[in-house]
Amino acid sequence: MEDRIAYFNGRFMSIDKIRISPNDRGFLFADGVYEVIRSYKGKLFMYNEHIDRLKYSLSELKINFHNTASLKGIILELLRRNKLENVDATTYIQITRGEYERMLKFPPADVPPTVYIVPKPIQLDEQTIIKGIKAVSVEDVRWGRCDIKTVALLPNALAHQQAIEQGADIGLFTKDGNITEGTHVSVFGVKNGSLITYPAGKHILPSITRKVVKQLCEELNLELIEKAISLDSISDIDELFVVGTTPEITPVISVNDIIIANGKPGNITLMLQKAFNRFVGEL
Ligand SMILES: Cc1ncc(COP(=O)(O)O)c(C=O)c1O
Repeated sequence: MEDRIAYFNGRFMSIDKIRISPNDRGFLFADGVYEVIRSYKGKLFMYNEHIDRLKYSLSELKINFHNTASLKGIILELLRRNKLENVDATTYIQITRGEYERMLKFPPADVPPTVYIVPKPIQLDEQTIIKGIKAVSVEDVRWGRCDIKTVALLPNALAHQQAIEQGADIGLFTKDGNITEGTHVSVFGVKNGSLITYPAGKHILPSITRKVVKQLCEELNLELIEKAISLDSISDIDELFVVGTTPEITPVISVNDIIIANGKPGNITLMLQKAFNRFVGEL
């Protein structure tokens, strides 16, 4: 029995009670978008940025949901009802194009979108962030609009599973020999004191944590170059780390069994982790 309270199409209810139609376009076509918003002891992290990205995803897919102003109240109420106000949590928001007889054409404009929102406590292994993780490369076979946060995550799930089966913790997508991003994270490298990350555009998600790290680089006077990191250059890179809403800034200590530097998190990674914690502390 799952006793978490979720929000579903206008009502707060136990997850167990939610029923979704087989004709929901999220189920049939992965025709929907999502967001994951972190809260630190009940304080929402980068809330406006997440909502802006949600609006972007909705508008790119022409999904008729305009009531984004209602979301903050719903999320805070969910945190309260699930007793997550004093711990760290993530809240998942999914909005699909709604329920209608199966056809590729969009349903009539008055078909309401399906809205599902649910929080859960964060269960992070502190040691992971301290010691770092192992990665493997996986060919990026995703579609051409990775900038939209759609629920069509099958390539991500397959890549993550492949990473686990190869004894690693995470999969890093490669396109034309370059690392684009991870299965659920952005990727940063460090070479000669400068940070490198794949350029924003349709090949990667506009990660909110990437944005925070960019800002921290400016504050710390660190150069950040937006260019691709080739897989071939990994043996020569000084530091590598991934960033995301849940893993924050997590060092990567190997890729395809090639050890990064000395296999320990690098100094710039550690410096950014400290700066990130300070940033969160100021919430
Ligand atoms: C493909 C992909 N890239 C990057 C990220 C990191 O984005 P954010 O920092 O907004 O969590 C995610 C998060 O889910 C993701 O799915």
